[in-house]
Amino acid sequence: MSDLVDVTLKVNGSEVSHRVPARTTLADFLRQTLELTGTHTGCEMGVCGACLVLLDGTVVHSCLTFAVQASGSAVETVEGLTERAVIADLQDAFHQRNSLQCGFCTPGMLMTAYSLLSQPGVPSREEIRDALSGNYCRCTGYEAIVDAIETTARNRAEGRDAPAHEEVEA
Ligand code: FES
Ligand code: FES
Repeated sequence: MSDLVDVTLKVNGSEVSHRVPARTTLADFLRQTLELTGTHTGCEMGVCGACLVLLDGTVVHSCLTFAVQASGSAVETVEGLTERAVIADLQDAFHQRNSLQCGFCTPGMLMTAYSLLSQPGVPSREEIRDALSGNYCRCTGYEAIVDAIETTARNRAEGRDAPAHEEVEA
């Protein structure tokens, strides 16, 4: 059919190739075609941040990106970050601080936090809040999430619990 397109990209280090309808979003491609359901969809209009993934290292809304636009690129989801153990300390901090309730927002929160914590220095609480301004949480009130990210940033700065930062193969 003419509205089908071939999409070939790397997802969490593995090359995948599928023929999908041209208007398939990257979020649906990940969730439905690849069954990587760690990436959530909420608003599907770029507002809530539940669908954030890394596209060639940059955080993007997978609900606003067509899968075919990601063809030839490297995508990393929360499953990939988890498998590489680069957010193990962050996930532990979320757990310790009770930073999630229903958990719907958590993959997007972790994506934003991963990106923020990849930058040099220890972000202030204001900077953490600013970074999270595109991530909605209907449960926690954000305070515990900010606490967990701040704790992780401080621990990493002090050399504690720092995960390996090897790059995923592009
Ligand atoms: S589902 Fe993409 S921003 Fe809400
Ligand atoms: S923990 Fe429920 S939306 Fe954030």
